[in-house]
Amino acid sequence: LRGVNERMTDIMNNVVQAEARLQLYKQEHILPYLRKLPADQQDRLAKQILKVNFDRLTESYRSIGRRKEDSLGILTPISHYEWNEDEKKVHEKRGWELLRQGKVGAIVVAGGQGSRLGHRGPKGTFDMGLPSGKSFFQLQAERLLNLSGRAGRSIPWYIMTSPDNHQDTVEFFSLRQYFGYRKEDCIFFEQRTMPAIDREGKLLMSSPSELNLAPSGNGECFASLRHSGALQDMENRGLKWLFYYNVDNALVKVADPAFIGLADIRNNPIATKVITKTGPEEKVGIVCMSSSRPAVVEYTEVPDPILRQRDSGGELAFGLGNLSMHMFSFDFISRYADEDIPYHAAFKKISCVDANGDVVEPETPNAYKLERLIFDFFPKIEEMTVVKVVREEEFAPVKNKEGDDSPLTARKLVLQLHKKWLEDAGRSTIGLADEDIEIPPLQSYSGEGL
Ligand code: UTP
Repeated sequence: LRGVNERMTDIMNNVVQAEARLQLYKQEHILPYLRKLPADQQDRLAKQILKVNFDRLTESYRSIGRRKEDSLGILTPISHYEWNEDEKKVHEKRGWELLRQGKVGAIVVAGGQGSRLGHRGPKGTFDMGLPSGKSFFQLQAERLLNLSGRAGRSIPWYIMTSPDNHQDTVEFFSLRQYFGYRKEDCIFFEQRTMPAIDREGKLLMSSPSELNLAPSGNGECFASLRHSGALQDMENRGLKWLFYYNVDNALVKVADPAFIGLADIRNNPIATKVITKTGPEEKVGIVCMSSSRPAVVEYTEVPDPILRQRDSGGELAFGLGNLSMHMFSFDFISRYADEDIPYHAAFKKISCVDANGDVVEPETPNAYKLERLIFDFFPKIEEMTVVKVVREEEFAPVKNKEGDDSPLTARKLVLQLHKKWLEDAGRSTIGLADEDIEIPPLQSYSGEGL
């Protein structure tokens, strides 16, 4: 009986503290929900409320709608590098040395909700309709296994999940025997969340007993690496470089040896791959300098005249598109893991509870999701290595159900590239003209060995 009483007192304390917080930060609309719940659910909701950083939330809400240009700084183009065959060989050689020495790991950020694609389950588990039926995770695992097989050394793979998809992600790997990876080399770590807020800055509920907490952006990666112990794991393994990438690019060259070598030889704390934008309207972030520091600015934030500006050769002056493929030195991650980078607000369709306690799925955007973005770490350094790559070889994002950047467009890009690999290897594809040609990553990483 004493145990029961103590538990009830704990719950009461949590609820009282949570109520005080809600009143202090003008979130009283949550009080009726909290008060109506049975004790155990009341305790859960109170704990959720107590975990919220209301000061950050208020500050982020206040910055919404402030003129974006104010925070943009003075934009200038950034200088970039393009590989020629000879230099690429030198860089590849260096990259392979580092892989053989076990100095390189890969980080995939897979904590997003993939709301535009609408796939049930973690986005990495999505089958984009390739003949093999492989998921993003499997394609990436096999590319990494190809490299580690040739290097004779396993490449530790750090997989960022969110509270929403952690369990499902781990189960997906486990049911498939980690795709042939050693279990201890797949390191799952969970990212943090932020509450979604409506136009008035009020918290949303996802059910009558839960706040709507959304994963708070890929910029949580470094902090989450530290808090989960994964950063310590990197240090224990003696890693020097981490290849960072998005889960949803079907053509990602995970831990590309040439890129690793280039990053290491140039020796800036960050290296990034870019592509030439197809035009000013293409919806990718722009890699440039902002007030003399490397930066990525969202296309939505750049004033139109700058987006359209051309250089003396007629090329877009701000025409380098961000691919979300970066090399970070371990030292950089370790130094800035707890850095306080800002939250960006994205206005989205977010399901919530109405006045009757029913869950509604809005048809138009209704609320803000607050996200930190990895590229907000770029301005911490003075110089960044930027290399331009061939779009058709490295970029097939899957963002939407249909239209641009959909499973259909990405699938076409993969199949076209694999067909080209065969042709480049001197194989005739006559007679296969209408066939889909897919080459398993375990057989060929980027067209070699065919
Ligand atoms: P996107 O910005 O494309 O978001 O993420 P998303 O969640 O995948 O899709 P939408 O916007 O809801 O449709 C780019 C990369 O960052 C990861 C994603 O998993 C993807 O690999 N990400 C995004 C996280 O890891 N955590 C987040 O909180 C957000």
